[in-house]
Amino acid sequence: RGGGSGWVRAPCVCPRSVDANRPRRRRRRRRSRWAGAGPVGARRMRPLPGAPGVAAAAALLLLLLPSRARADEHEHTYQDKEEVVLWMNTVGPYHNRQETYKYFSLPFCVGSKKSISHYHETLGEALQGVELEFSGLDIKFKDDVMPATYCEIDLDKEKRDAFVYAIKNHYWYQMYIDDLPIWGIVGEADENGEDYYLWTYKKLEIGFNGNRIVDVNLTSEGKVKLVPNTKIQMSYSVKWKKSDVKFEDRFDKYLDPSFFQHRIHWFSIFNSFMMVIFLVGLVSMILMRTLRKDYARYSKEEEMDDMDRDLGDEYGWKQVHGDVFRPSSHPLIFSSLVGSGCQIFAVSLIVIIVAMIEDLYTERGSMLSTAIFVYAATSPVNGYFGGSLYARQGGRRWIKQMFIGAFLIPAMVCGTAFFINFIAIYYHASRAIPFGTMVAVCCICFFVILPLNLVGTILGRNLSGQPNFPCRVNAVPRPIPEKKWFMEPAVIVCLGGILPFGSIFIEMYFIFTSFWAYKIYYVYGFMMLVLVILCIVTVCVTIVCTYFLLNAEDYRWQWTSFLSAASTAIYVYMYSFYYYFFKTKMYGLFQTSFYFGYMAVFSTALGIMCGAIGYMGTSAFVRKIYTNVKID
Ligand SMILES: *[C@@H]1O[C@H](CO)[C@@H](O)[C@H](O)[C@H]1NC(C)=O
Repeated sequence: RGGGSGWVRAPCVCPRSVDANRPRRRRRRRRSRWAGAGPVGARRMRPLPGAPGVAAAAALLLLLLPSRARADEHEHTYQDKEEVVLWMNTVGPYHNRQETYKYFSLPFCVGSKKSISHYHETLGEALQGVELEFSGLDIKFKDDVMPATYCEIDLDKEKRDAFVYAIKNHYWYQMYIDDLPIWGIVGEADENGEDYYLWTYKKLEIGFNGNRIVDVNLTSEGKVKLVPNTKIQMSYSVKWKKSDVKFEDRFDKYLDPSFFQHRIHWFSIFNSFMMVIFLVGLVSMILMRTLRKDYARYSKEEEMDDMDRDLGDEYGWKQVHGDVFRPSSHPLIFSSLVGSGCQIFAVSLIVIIVAMIEDLYTERGSMLSTAIFVYAATSPVNGYFGGSLYARQGGRRWIKQMFIGAFLIPAMVCGTAFFINFIAIYYHASRAIPFGTMVAVCCICFFVILPLNLVGTILGRNLSGQPNFPCRVNAVPRPIPEKKWFMEPAVIVCLGGILPFGSIFIEMYFIFTSFWAYKIYYVYGFMMLVLVILCIVTVCVTIVCTYFLLNAEDYRWQWTSFLSAASTAIYVYMYSFYYYFFKTKMYGLFQTSFYFGYMAVFSTALGIMCGAIGYMGTSAFVRKIYTNVKID
């Protein structure tokens, strides 16, 4: 297990000096080409220009990037003595990164300064449970503050119990200064677990370079025993230090190159690459050879006269030429799934490319905002592929298909989110999605995704909706002969996902680790390579599966090819169980349902994507082999 999972066993927050900014192992991250090029931060993420549906996209843009009310903080430049805001974000158990609560849900006290009361969130932030509240601390740029008390907690029994509960569960809190995250832990218990102590003194050391903030360290001191009916004084100090860190590099210290070891990535890529070579070799060699033999056999039979042919035993995939292009069963669901899969593929591709160019992790929630924006903007892809496939399969209820195709993924995600939202509301967690955000998401679905889908569907039906198959479809379906058990579609489907999963599971470990917020993912170049490899492996595997199926004279290849690729999702979901039990220390109803709920969504989306890729590749293959064979 080269990846090392020190973060679960040895928390990086050490109690004495709560310096979440672990010592940097390397002063400057050497950016490899695979780590995503381009300087950090200076440029703000702007959604891609030229997206279809300009008006809709513009409306979406307004939704996603609400007016930046306070320009100075977002420009990240300060004048001397200008106000610097310390935002309190969330507090929650150290092991449950998604179980977060508002900082002031613990009975902390607020500083006396009251000038700012509200922060305007973006959609991505709201969905990720960011709850910024002003700390009330008076901090001015380049203006040192001597240790000073900023407020007092009147500790009654109830407040003490709240703190004790938090300390028992290893609560830690998060704050932001100028978009730089800061972490600290709430308190500490002594060895026998009877006395509980609260850290009361926040020592902030802020590094500046010119007129910008480039580094923040927090040290927690002032351990005070929690005794009911006492007053606890909370204090802070600020020290400004000149720093050489460049503004563009200020997020580098949050990245962990020793975790995302390039060696492991290269090893995994190499591994998968071998598999790709092997598979492509297998597909091209065996199939080309077998196909050539098949073609030779078929053309020899062609030369025999009718008499001989009746005696000769014809077998193999040619026999089903009158049925291969028969519409799949449930064409409506099938084409909706394929359309959605194509869209997910487009979204993954574009988001990874954007993440390679822009360092999205420097801004809260920007990854999610980008993904939502790209998802909405690529809706025509869904409509095009889903609608044209449905038309080619002779479907008549295309409006229904469009609705199902458009809302399949949003409904799945929103359904899960809705369910988890109930638990979040019950827990009063900050992950509970505000009503306004829900309305915004619904608006995006109905006023952006649906119209764009309609455009795609109409285009798809008109441009490639004609069923120009190389063979005619017989009126009466041919009976499917008996075959060996391992040629049954169900078995092929189960086995089909193993190789694609094998090609991605090492990267899955890194993706899960960053998905569950233990590390910041930044090696998007590797992710891109893995996506490409996944596609190739999936297509090769489904082609081989389909060939075997058709050779057994079973023509139900559409669903089989889709599902044999989609079964990757089952293996990924099983892997997520392993990850939960052996790689994390999550606990509690909220975190567990959050984990398994969103893992199910993630796996399903991955499965639909693989299924669509597999189906697309296979249908090109099937069309090719039946175009070349002469059918009398
Ligand atoms: C923060 O801590 C790191 C590591 O201990 C140190 O290198 C850096 O100079 C500190 N920054 C400030 C502003 O004190």
